[in-house]
Amino acid sequence: MIKNICCIGAGYVGGPTMAVIANKSPEIKVHVVDLNAQRIADWNSDDFSKLPIYEPGLDEIVKATRGRNLFFSTNVDQAIQQADAIFISVNTPTKTYGVGKGMAADLKYIELCARQIAAVATTDKIVIEKSTLPVRTAEAIQNILKNTGNGVNFEVLSNPEFLAEGTAVSDLMNPDRVLIGGNETVAGKKAIQALVDVYANWVPTENILTTNVWSSELSKLTANAFLAQRVSSVNALSELCEHTGADINEVSRAIGTDSRIGPKFLKASVGFGGSCFQKDILNLVYIAKSYGLTEVADYWEQVIIMNDHQKRRFAANIVKTLYNTVSGRDFAMLGWAFKKDTNDTRESAAIYVCDELLNERANIRVYDPKVSKSKVFTDLEYLSTRSNQENEDLVTVVTDPYKACKNSHAIAVMTRVG
Ligand code: NAI
Repeated sequence: MIKNICCIGAGYVGGPTMAVIANKSPEIKVHVVDLNAQRIADWNSDDFSKLPIYEPGLDEIVKATRGRNLFFSTNVDQAIQQADAIFISVNTPTKTYGVGKGMAADLKYIELCARQIAAVATTDKIVIEKSTLPVRTAEAIQNILKNTGNGVNFEVLSNPEFLAEGTAVSDLMNPDRVLIGGNETVAGKKAIQALVDVYANWVPTENILTTNVWSSELSKLTANAFLAQRVSSVNALSELCEHTGADINEVSRAIGTDSRIGPKFLKASVGFGGSCFQKDILNLVYIAKSYGLTEVADYWEQVIIMNDHQKRRFAANIVKTLYNTVSGRDFAMLGWAFKKDTNDTRESAAIYVCDELLNERANIRVYDPKVSKSKVFTDLEYLSTRSNQENEDLVTVVTDPYKACKNSHAIAVMTRVG
């Protein structure tokens, strides 16, 4: 029976997920730990509007549980030591160096966690992959734990997270399903059951799916690939609509009423952003390539190619509509985060569109109620070839949407309307 949980990584997944587990399971102590001391200090802030992650309803849950059975700290070793179950919820970005650069998932943070758990643990632990990982990562984690540990038993489970940012709390409270993958051994089944029992505190057991560990790992990449594919499919057709007089909103409505297709994820847009879709599809493409499955890899890569095209096309349309002269003109950008109801700007389409317009020397006023000025400039610095000074000369971040729009030549709506 799981009584004490440690979650390594207090980010967009670790924070909300553990807050909901603590909220729904008052008898379990949940320690969320992170190397980032500022992030932990923000989670412990007395001002609940200053939590490091914005999600509707999250502040209320943290208020109800923090200090009761939910704790945030930088003391990773102590939390590992005390826990029966350890969730690994650290970031798994796309590799920016070496073999697989630009495609494979960078697993260095995962490996570090496994090594730290192995070094510290002196009692048996269930180790749970919460991060999104390439299929067969559990094998590597199990090897590290076994070969570098103190002789205690580790059982590795895969329990991918399906929450969407912006609706994380309600997704966690009422998940379509919880997926738990584990070894098909007696010890594996026992560990699976222990984790099922945690979720069963609030999730109907028929919605808790159990599989082998590889199916679970691959299902998460597959789910993101399918969702992103729908976005790219509808965006591809939006371009065809613009040339034929068809209206993409009408086409979406017409096909979405077909119960085999369904209405969700059919809205044409400037393309998907966020930390997951692109990185997870690139990872899937890399895995397929590494097994020599060229056609499979090419098939999924097209989803990314279409998304990049849509972002560039959106900016190019603005420039074309203004007779190709945007230099010195004022633009408003409403929304900087990658979607509404989040402060996460990772891979936001707004950054790419802004960058393209800045290349044309446009002046841009950015408004986003959840994103700080420093974040906007850090995002631009990371992406662009301009100096910080050039970015600061051309971009103003404002706290009033009317100020952003006043006297602007065009308004780019970079968030969901309605
Ligand atoms: P994040 O970057 O917000 O949080 C990760 C945290 O882990 C950071 O605060 C970092 O300081 C910490 N960390 C890294 N190495 C550490 C170590 N060795 N010890 C202690 N802390 C460490 O990332 P996010 O968005 O929470 O994603 C985590 C994982 O969950 C990724 O694999 C992602 O693909 C997956 N995921 C993300 C979703 C999302 O909507 N953001 C949804 C579903 C899955």
